[in-house]
Amino acid sequence: MDEGITRVFKDHEEKLKINSQIIGLHVYHYRSLESTNDLAFSLALKGLKEGNIIVADRQTKGKGRLGRKWYSPKGGLYLSVILRPDIPFLRVSLVTIFSAVSVCSVLRRLGINAWIKWPNDIMVANKKICGILVEMDSTIDRVKFIITGIGINNKVNKSDLVHIATSIYEETAQLISNKDLLRFLSEELDKNYAIFLKQNYTYFTDKLKAMSRMINKNVILKVNSKEHKGKVKGFDDDGSLVMEINKKKKKFLSADNVKVLG
Ligand code: BTN
Repeated sequence: MDEGITRVFKDHEEKLKINSQIIGLHVYHYRSLESTNDLAFSLALKGLKEGNIIVADRQTKGKGRLGRKWYSPKGGLYLSVILRPDIPFLRVSLVTIFSAVSVCSVLRRLGINAWIKWPNDIMVANKKICGILVEMDSTIDRVKFIITGIGINNKVNKSDLVHIATSIYEETAQLISNKDLLRFLSEELDKNYAIFLKQNYTYFTDKLKAMSRMINKNVILKVNSKEHKGKVKGFDDDGSLVMEINKKKKKFLSADNVKVLG
């Protein structure tokens, strides 16, 4: 954990004025952390309840998928939510989908033409505006807890973005505070989590279908360094992508890299 920077746990507990049942009732806000996912994970191991959010103004060791780094300058929103759904291991990828649908809905409400690049990227045209990293602790068949980590480029300038990225500020020229953005997102996540807990999984795969812009597109998926080229046909109830390859349907639960060809 970070030393020498803000780490006063109780002093940074905030109650957001939000309309939530579970997610976001308590928010632990830090000026700087190595990674909100790492702190959320260690606090979850110590028993912190589901719905708690860890948020940081910046991260010094922000983590992306597949061991990549997530550059986390000031201005972005970096948060991790602790969840404890009683679900089997095989349903965990739906947490990425329900998080992606929530972020995409919030961005669309802000007037941004966002879409979900399955499984975990939120894009505007061909630029990434948000990434999601889901981590968990589980036994062989049941989940103990899940951390859904979300990084949104909010008030991030062009000079701080790589060329394949964009931000809310770049897209709208509006300065939305991270606090407001966190409130919108917490409420959306909370509403969707209630649907998730009722096991209404098709709700999310239908939303994903509508928000993905990948249906009937040719794509190349990279999975364990192997490339699979085919046409996207849909998404299954477990969150996997269904592709047609040489007239045969094939399911993929995740992918390391996805290229949408059109
Ligand atoms: C990716 O696109 O590879 C996923 C990026 C996830 C970044 C977020 S920022 C908040 C949370 N804490 C982290 O260290 N990573 C996630």
